[in-house]
Amino acid sequence: MKNKSIIFTKRPKDFPTNENFSVQDDIVPVLNDNQILLKTVYVSVDPYLRGRMNNVKSYIPPFEVGEPMKSTIVAEVIESKNKNYSVGSHLYGMLDWKTFQVSDGTGLFPIPKDLAPLSSYLGVLGVTGLTAYFGLLEIGKPKENETLLVSGAAGAVGITVSQIGKIKGCRVVGIAGSDEKVDRLKNKFGLDAAINYKNNKNLLNELKTACPNGVDVYFDNVGGEVSDTVFYLTNNFCRIPVCGAISQYNQPTLPVGPRNNPFIISRRIKMQGFIVFDYSDKYLEAQMQLASWMKEGKVTLEETIIEGFENIPDAFLGLFNGKNFGKMIVKI
Ligand SMILES: NC(=O)c1ccc[n+]([C@@H]2O[C@H](COP(=O)([O-])OP(=O)(O)OC[C@H]3O[C@@H](n4cnc5c(N)ncnc54)[C@H](OP(=O)(O)O)[C@@H]3O)[C@@H](O)[C@H]2O)c1
Repeated sequence: MKNKSIIFTKRPKDFPTNENFSVQDDIVPVLNDNQILLKTVYVSVDPYLRGRMNNVKSYIPPFEVGEPMKSTIVAEVIESKNKNYSVGSHLYGMLDWKTFQVSDGTGLFPIPKDLAPLSSYLGVLGVTGLTAYFGLLEIGKPKENETLLVSGAAGAVGITVSQIGKIKGCRVVGIAGSDEKVDRLKNKFGLDAAINYKNNKNLLNELKTACPNGVDVYFDNVGGEVSDTVFYLTNNFCRIPVCGAISQYNQPTLPVGPRNNPFIISRRIKMQGFIVFDYSDKYLEAQMQLASWMKEGKVTLEETIIEGFENIPDAFLGLFNGKNFGKMIVKI
């Protein structure tokens, strides 16, 4: 049996490329007592991994050059010297980008058999679903008939936010980066309107048409110019869960000064950043609710699946070019 790892080779200055990674052959580790041998099944690639490539202090430590990349992975136990884990069972959690690795199970979560597809633990039932759930319900607090505007609406977090918004009776408007995504958001997911922010039309005018009653909740996944424009449409007491700022993750220097403060003050906007870990004590409750919405067909598991271990870096890089609809996942 052969093993492979993907090593982080150098820190990017702006947009990451394949030069920041190398695929290496490795040996399959031998088990000690209490350990399990894991075979990688699905790998999550996520925008926040870009932040971990910078050598800066954050809510999660930076990657070390020369070490394997890591992300949330679904793995199968293929050998076990630990009585808590049986061969054939599946776990998910933060693991190395390796085809095989050993663990003692610390920090990993068991996946119940046959409850939901394995990959959903990287999407709707994983970090992105939980992020959508808590960001929208705890910070956005949408009410029936309010207008919920979602940026990055066709991505993993955004598509779940949009569907929960519909469940809560909102007018849901999405912003995404292609006509195809916009069509799918409207026709498959029932969004009331969707806008392609890359179509070279006047975004403000398009937003005015799509949100005739203004914006009550703006779920922000992207930041930058799109969010700057959205501020003109905000209603008094608008809530803005600031979930992500992918438009800025590859910028070596950030623009100077927030220019939206006058809106925040005059319209009494509440804008709050959050990290999904803040709600870790309520994950189970959220997973139960999301799983039940999945069963009822109200929240769908939407994925872009790329196949092959060597393609993990390309799948990750694709996030910055809008190559995914829903959760970007690599199947090994
Ligand atoms: N706070 C938290 O705890 C937490 C947890 C998870 C994720 N997040 C954040 O939430 C956001 C969404 O994450 P995700 O996992 O759901 O990723 P995702 O939306 O599935 O994938 C990234 C998407 O971002 C869009 N994008 C890329 N570059 C952009 C740019 N310059 N301007 C505007 N949009 C751009 C692309 O779609 P288009 O085709 O539409 O451009 C791409 O498909 C990210 O910012 C992420 O960092 C935060």
